[in-house]
Amino acid sequence: MGHLPTGEIIEKAVLLAGRAPSLHNSQPWHWTFDGATLRLFAVPERMLAATDTSGRQMLISCGIALGHLRAALAAAGWRIRVARFPDPNRREHLADITFEPARMVTDGDRERADAILRRHTDRLPFLAPTGWPDFEYVLRSTFDPSDASLYILGDDSRPTLARASEMTASLRRYDADYHAELRWWTGHTIADTGVPEQALPSQEERQRVTVGRRFPDATAASRRSEVAADQSMILVLSTDGDTPDELVRCGEVLSTVLLECTLAGYATCPLTHLIEVPHSRAMVGELTASSSRPQVLVRVGIAPESEENAPATPRRPLGEILEMTESAAGTQ
Ligand SMILES: Cc1cc2nc3c(=O)[nH]c(=O)nc-3n(C[C@H](O)[C@H](O)[C@H](O)COP(=O)(O)O)c2cc1C
Repeated sequence: MGHLPTGEIIEKAVLLAGRAPSLHNSQPWHWTFDGATLRLFAVPERMLAATDTSGRQMLISCGIALGHLRAALAAAGWRIRVARFPDPNRREHLADITFEPARMVTDGDRERADAILRRHTDRLPFLAPTGWPDFEYVLRSTFDPSDASLYILGDDSRPTLARASEMTASLRRYDADYHAELRWWTGHTIADTGVPEQALPSQEERQRVTVGRRFPDATAASRRSEVAADQSMILVLSTDGDTPDELVRCGEVLSTVLLECTLAGYATCPLTHLIEVPHSRAMVGELTASSSRPQVLVRVGIAPESEENAPATPRRPLGEILEMTESAAGTQ
């Protein structure tokens, strides 16, 4: 193996990174590769201004893509070095990534990369995750706690979360910009972005998951009727502040958390509506009993096995998210 990954390896890794989840499947990332350095940019035109007013979730989404890229390249035998925010005059330039050959590829590296294609957001009710304490212990060893703090909310938090969720919806009832954005991005897909209707819950299904975001109701017949009420574990990732660097790092940790959950056979659903409204964000903060700032919640649980897998949500094609200089494209 040479000292630089080929263009083909980069293409495959960026394609897998593109499977990262993002707010309403907005996919707000762009990559360039010049043969030696891979650069990651946020795309502010893909920021959802009425939902994600400060662009926090755009940066978290890009951080997840960066985490997925790291996982994809580890399985291909490459470690990455990340220089963050390398151009102080260009805030959307999030990272310059360089490479070194890995000493070895472990089964774990391969399995985590394989989990990228299996992971998807599941908005239906979950059964309680079995084997949680052992899993949590291992999960905490897979990321640097200085990048983000992980809190697990007990079952006794559920009523407060349901109240906070209700409050968020009420506070937004007259927010036409928020609702217009939600209708534009969800319930159908446009140009390989957005959340397809099959991925959304019907009104009846939504009532069994009291902490979910309120999307336009899907018309699906009632699914997963054997789970009368959601029994998921609820995770919160928090950071000390809301700086761009902290948000991208939080996204990288979220990538790891989602992939590790997928590997363990758990279903996941990121939740951020509670964080978008200051009042409910403060309620979540109180539940974590910490002064750090909650960034994202994740429902984790078991989806009954009998079900057919939902079709994968779409992604923009590689040609739209990766730009290669001619010399880099030639290194196949
Ligand atoms: C920062 C962020 C915020 C999200 N917020 C929510 C949310 O509040 N509710 C929800 O059901 N899904 C949420 N999602 C999941 C996305 O809608 C989902 O990742 C996207 O539609 C792509 O689908 P997939 O995850 O199945 O690949 C969020 C994802 C990210 C990365």
